[in-house]
Amino acid sequence: MRKISLKKIYSLKKKHIGITSITAYDASFAKFFDDLGFDIILIGDSLGEVIKGEKNTHNVSIKEMIYHARSVSNAVNKSYVIADLPKDSCSSNRKIISDSIALFKNTKIDMIKIEFNEKNIDIFKKLNNKKIPICSHLGLRPQVISKKYEFRIYGKTEKEKSEIINNALLAEKHGAKIMLLECVSTTVVKELRALLKIPIIGIGSGESCDGQIIVSYDLLGISFNKLPKFIKKDYICKDILEKRINNYIKHIKKLPNK
Ligand code: KIV
Repeated sequence: MRKISLKKIYSLKKKHIGITSITAYDASFAKFFDDLGFDIILIGDSLGEVIKGEKNTHNVSIKEMIYHARSVSNAVNKSYVIADLPKDSCSSNRKIISDSIALFKNTKIDMIKIEFNEKNIDIFKKLNNKKIPICSHLGLRPQVISKKYEFRIYGKTEKEKSEIINNALLAEKHGAKIMLLECVSTTVVKELRALLKIPIIGIGSGESCDGQIIVSYDLLGISFNKLPKFIKKDYICKDILEKRINNYIKHIKKLPNK
């Protein structure tokens, strides 16, 4: 199979075929997910939590993103590869541009994901001009929240609903090529699907999005932090992994052979 293009992802949306996306942070998992046929692999700044063992994504540096994005993109043959621009890179427009170029040029990724911020929306066009496609991230934005009560569904009030819809339209108008919606109400998702031309990838945003993304370690059931409530238990692999690894441990405990 050939490398999945953005055009192919758009055609999946058009044909109403769910777009499958998952996070990866290293070459071995990236190859595994690539071989399984995921359409998109994201090097998420969730690596702050699942790889570095921190309580949020806030301290991930551009250097770390480049390191992991390089490992993943070196191992991927088919999936479309997206990498997050970390919080620290978004402190000024100039830094967004220079760090995006560094992330794009030093890896083999296809797109950069940036958490939406009205103040730096002009950046999208500038990056598009430099042939760097952008995925915009709206709804729950892990880089700007820190309090427990902020981990909730967004878009339930009329004010918040129109805010998300307007921002999504603004992002598309400024050249966003994919929209990631995290913890957004199903009503908003359904309205946005009728309004946006670009594909919507959801996480914790119901099953009406064009595609879904999941943090790989949540799917495996081995995440360092608490598992999000929206993950369907049937898909969590922890039991199977535990069984096999326990069998291995038991076998080794019977060794050494006489
Ligand atoms: O960093 C991440 O893993 C994300 C999730 C929303 C998939 O952005």
